[in-house]
Amino acid sequence: MIERLVLVGFMCSGKSTVGRLVADRLDWDFIDFDEAIERDLGLRIAEIFRDHGERHFRELEAELTREVMGRRHVVLAPGGGWITQLELVEQLRPNSLIVWLRARPETVLERHLTQLTVERPLLAVDDPLAAIRSILAARAPLYGEADEAVGTDDRDPGEVAAEIVALHDR
Ligand code: S3P
Repeated sequence: MIERLVLVGFMCSGKSTVGRLVADRLDWDFIDFDEAIERDLGLRIAEIFRDHGERHFRELEAELTREVMGRRHVVLAPGGGWITQLELVEQLRPNSLIVWLRARPETVLERHLTQLTVERPLLAVDDPLAAIRSILAARAPLYGEADEAVGTDDRDPGEVAAEIVALHDR
């Protein structure tokens, strides 16, 4: 029995947008990890990275994972790097459907450049496309451990959400 949907994937793969739509359609709750962490701390993700370091941010992601472990009927959208803490994925796996939202590096860059309100410290470098390619190459095998993979390139978020709802309903 699926009690939770966990949307994983690289930055700008649509986890927050699609997650909200899926939660609406299922009438489930929705938790965006970055948003929850920012709200709890009263700090933006970029400030947490700058003032406390990435390692501290990863600890906050781990804490939040433990908090949501017992939640049912919830769509979770952790940040793109959550997948690197494999033990967190395994904690959530029972009774969850883990879905990888896939996006090409060029798609990620294009979306990143149009979402100027979201600061992404890992992409704040001289050559963001090269950074996307190298981080994605390192993480792709981890995302590949998801139960399902759904393509998001050149697709409307509503269409992607419908595909995920259908996976849940199967
Ligand atoms: C990160 C992804 C971001 C955010 C932080 C680090 C990553 O979330 O958690 O900037 O390591 O991939 P999104 O995937 O929602 O952009």
